[in-house]
Amino acid sequence: MEHNNHFITCTILIILLTLLGILRQDCECTSPSLAPSPDLTFADVRLAVVYPIIQSFKLTITLDPLGITSSWVGSDICNYTGFYCDNPPDSTSATTLAAIDFNGFHLAALTLDGFIDQLPDLAIFHANSNNFSGTISPKIAQLPYFYELDISNNKFSGQFPSAVFGIAGLSFLDIRFNFFTGAVPPQVFSQALDALFINNNNFMQKLPDNFGSTPVQYLTLANNKFTGPIPTSIGNASSTLTEVLLLNNYLTGSRAIVRGEEPSKPVPIEQLLHEDRANMLEAGEERGVGREEELHPWDS
Ligand SMILES: *[C@@H]1O[C@H](CO)[C@@H](O)[C@H](O)[C@H]1NC(C)=O
Ligand SMILES: *[C@@H]1O[C@H](CO)[C@@H](O)[C@H](O)[C@H]1NC(C)=O
Ligand SMILES: *[C@@H]1O[C@H](CO)[C@@H](O)[C@H](O)[C@H]1NC(C)=O
Repeated sequence: MEHNNHFITCTILIILLTLLGILRQDCECTSPSLAPSPDLTFADVRLAVVYPIIQSFKLTITLDPLGITSSWVGSDICNYTGFYCDNPPDSTSATTLAAIDFNGFHLAALTLDGFIDQLPDLAIFHANSNNFSGTISPKIAQLPYFYELDISNNKFSGQFPSAVFGIAGLSFLDIRFNFFTGAVPPQVFSQALDALFINNNNFMQKLPDNFGSTPVQYLTLANNKFTGPIPTSIGNASSTLTEVLLLNNYLTGSRAIVRGEEPSKPVPIEQLLHEDRANMLEAGEERGVGREEELHPWDS
């Protein structure tokens, strides 16, 4: 009898534990942490989609000295500080998260992965003067409308963020004042950019030979550790280049090379050797280019 009771108790215990296990698993499966709260109503389903992504990112922010994220509550995402909505190109009746401007917010987070690359209609990301670090996810290339990335004056490090080569529409890339190192891949000089700011990093090695194929209007390479001669192809860049800043590197032969290219519209030597007046070499919030209305990227 004693033995039998013991067996029954054990069996009941096992059944209870199993049930608990199942219940626990069930709970995890339906965890609401990533789903919008049922009591929130969104102006557009596209805003409901980005809500949990923004909320997850908010949880990863380790410093917010200006209290920016305190406005990131509720369903009115278009009114969150730093977030801008617009009608996307694929639907003029829809409202979606189109641009983010965190310039000067001094936020810190270990990575932007899982945030900007998960905002399906994002066109613009500005984050000058924050404390963001990590790498840029290759998933950013999946964003069909993305065209402007400014992560200047942050704490990004490692190799050049090659993820940007996959962004078909990218026209503006500003990664100055970070800690990027290694070589600058040739692909960036064949990308259809208007502006490329990579000054004040730790880029080293030679500039690639296709350097001059860049169609950019603005190019800053200053305050890195580039070595060797300036590729002669720079003579070909002069039809589009308005401003190129090379100072404080270990480059050689610039005068001779530029003179040698004189027949095909040379880049004026003044532009090569002098500081510009458009603050491109400053880490501050003024970027020299960029307009406020760009935050509504598809307004006519
Ligand atoms: C937008 O947010 C501000 C405070 O950040 C608040 O005063 C205002 O009422 C909000 N507007 C709407 C439409 O919710
Ligand atoms: C980054 O954080 C450090 C210390 O936490 C702070 O001193 C610095 O000002 C911050 N930088 C920016 C751009 O917010
Ligand atoms: C400049 O472009 C022309 C035509 O695309 C090309 O043949 C030439 O090699 C280029 N010059 C340099 C120095 O790259």
